[in-house]
Amino acid sequence: MYKFKPYLTNDGSIGLYNEDFNDIYHSATGAITEAYEKFILPVNFELLLTKPKINVLDICYGIGYNSKCFLNYIFENFLKDKNFKSKQYNSAIYTNNISHINNNICSDTIHTDNLINNNTNNEKLYNIDSIYGNNICSNISVTAIDNDKNLTFLSPFIKTDIKNFSNNKLEFKYERIEKYINEKNNKKSKLKINKLINFLIYQKIAQNYPEILENTDILSILERKEYLPIFDDDIKGIYKLDKYKRCNKSQIEYKLPFLHNIYYSHISNKYKKGLKRYNLQDINFELKIDDARNFIKNDKTIYNLIFLDAFSPSKCPCLWTLEFFQQLHKHLDKDGVILTYSTSAAIRNAMINAGLKIGYKYNKDKNFPIGTVAVKNSNLIKYHLSEYDLGLLKTRAGIFYRDENLTGLNEAIIERRNLEINNSNLMSSSKYNKLHRV
Ligand SMILES: C[S@@+](CC[C@H](N)C(=O)[O-])C[C@H]1O[C@@H](n2cnc3c(N)ncnc32)[C@H](O)[C@@H]1O
Repeated sequence: MYKFKPYLTNDGSIGLYNEDFNDIYHSATGAITEAYEKFILPVNFELLLTKPKINVLDICYGIGYNSKCFLNYIFENFLKDKNFKSKQYNSAIYTNNISHINNNICSDTIHTDNLINNNTNNEKLYNIDSIYGNNICSNISVTAIDNDKNLTFLSPFIKTDIKNFSNNKLEFKYERIEKYINEKNNKKSKLKINKLINFLIYQKIAQNYPEILENTDILSILERKEYLPIFDDDIKGIYKLDKYKRCNKSQIEYKLPFLHNIYYSHISNKYKKGLKRYNLQDINFELKIDDARNFIKNDKTIYNLIFLDAFSPSKCPCLWTLEFFQQLHKHLDKDGVILTYSTSAAIRNAMINAGLKIGYKYNKDKNFPIGTVAVKNSNLIKYHLSEYDLGLLKTRAGIFYRDENLTGLNEAIIERRNLEINNSNLMSSSKYNKLHRV
């Protein structure tokens, strides 16, 4: 039986626990909040949306919060309000300074999608005509990769518009995370993902993987009583309707009452109209079920934005090795950005050795670094690493994981690094801390 262990995080969204890795998929403080803070807020959308084609790679898609938050951000900020063009981007030109949108410059003077210099005020200008003049959605492509088929298939069913869970308690408790869960919290989700995004993802998965309709694990998990608060009834109903349409009608006709089908046909059409209205169906969302290492070796796409959301380096080192970052470097656009939550010296050192420039991912509200960004173009780094953190990379803590053929087992990768650490003449991080920490 497939192991599916959900719990309610402190922002009311669903998080998952993985027994095999003894690790959580999502922060107990809030799964959706975490995705927004770590993978959406650090993105320079102004720069990203000037690209004629935007390729996003979501490594370790899981139940898809990072992809969903990205798509939802595009939807809420650039599509939902149909007048956004005149309201926010009047001149169709803006600067790379997020807080300053220059409405006074005539767009006719700028014709390329390249970064150009404005001699008068020395600000960099971007042409966004090419993208906003057309259909923004047809320029966006999200590739999501994970090696857990069942989990990714369940992703569009997970409720993301949770309003108030106080009367809707889940019974799941895991020792490992219990201390982080705030029982008294009313668990009202401030951040919401529009249901259209889940429907879009469901449609794209069902198109590429029609086997989802025959997968018995999925159906049995969706039907389990204890999971009822987790899954969205609309998407579940549409799934069953699609299943019904696909199967030999006479075989299951008796299971699904006629009126029930009419009801879900109506809902399905409503969502289809919604996708059409905002051209969301033109977004290319593609799920790949594979080991991310195997996928990246054979992939030819250049990405503008890469989310790396693997389990922690000590649990899943195979996606944090020098060789994996070398692959990511190869697949990164010159203005592209890799976002990770890891602050580990070994990971930062691997990124640098793979040819990437790195900086902090910073939470301005909390005045705290919440991860690492890696780029090719150092001008894109806003927050540079401190002398202390740079020094740490030269200690034993900076010894990175290796996986030459991108096929090693996690255990072997860990063992190899431990051996290297034991044989190393570098200063230990504890000694470095004693010498340098104030
Ligand atoms: C921390 S969870 C990611 C959570 C996810 N971003 C979400 O929003 O639900 C880590 C994910 O990495 C996946 N994973 C682990 N090893 C992998 C590998 N070698 N290749 C691809 N995916 C892998 C797991 O299946 C799991 O879904």
